[in-house]
Amino acid sequence: MSPRQPFVGGNWKMNTDRRSSVHLARAVGDGLPDDASGVQCAIFPPSIHLNAVSETLRETGGGADCVLGAQNFYPEPEGAFTGEISISQLRDLGVGAALVGHSERRHVIGEPEELIARKTTAALESGLLCVLCVGETLEQRESSKTDAVNEAQIRSALEHASASLLDGIIIAYEPVWAIGTGRTASPADAQSAHERIRALLGRMYDASVAESTRIIYGGSVKSANAAELFSQPDIDGGLIGGASLDADEFLAICSAARPRQELQGASS
Ligand code: 13P
Repeated sequence: MSPRQPFVGGNWKMNTDRRSSVHLARAVGDGLPDDASGVQCAIFPPSIHLNAVSETLRETGGGADCVLGAQNFYPEPEGAFTGEISISQLRDLGVGAALVGHSERRHVIGEPEELIARKTTAALESGLLCVLCVGETLEQRESSKTDAVNEAQIRSALEHASASLLDGIIIAYEPVWAIGTGRTASPADAQSAHERIRALLGRMYDASVAESTRIIYGGSVKSANAAELFSQPDIDGGLIGGASLDADEFLAICSAARPRQELQGASS
């Protein structure tokens, strides 16, 4: 029986306007069951809509169980960092989680490993849930570098993170070639990558960190493939892009992540 609470996050990326972000947050907050069925859900709207979404979630019933997440922040407390947002500014809006190292920030914006490591440490030290994203490109996959890339990205991001901070980490394995493409890693391939990431945490820290850290999958997850992915022993939920912009789809994916013992009970 896994002690890890499943996690499903909706990364809205640079989508929605103020009105549609409020509408989507209301539909998600109202649609979540009161106890969220043991699944921890989070939504990551664009920063400019965090305030509106925060107020909306407070008004909805299930909103209490939905963590508000930020897609980005800058790892300094305050000062001359034009255009950036600090963790305390996010906290002020009720933000409880943040994405770090997303492939679009690594490969499109060009965020370097050193900044990703600083952001990871800052998020963990502040008590935010830190969703650290890793994953290989198609070229790296075709040259059998998946596990080496995941290992290098995780070692670099966690360079300054001691075991005592790791309660707050969630690792999202998101193969770049599966993001927004409609191509999903097969459940067996995703499981194999997750299993190796868990073993790596055991080598970097200890068996208890490895066993308790949540490792979630992202890349073209939808309600039609979520249950099979989430039934793998080392897949503890998902990070959802496109499908999280549809409340019904996102809620169906959240319910596909119910804890394994519940699913086993329901099918026996
Ligand atoms: P898609 O679900 O649209 O493939 O995006 C995945 C992702 O990047 C989540 O962070």
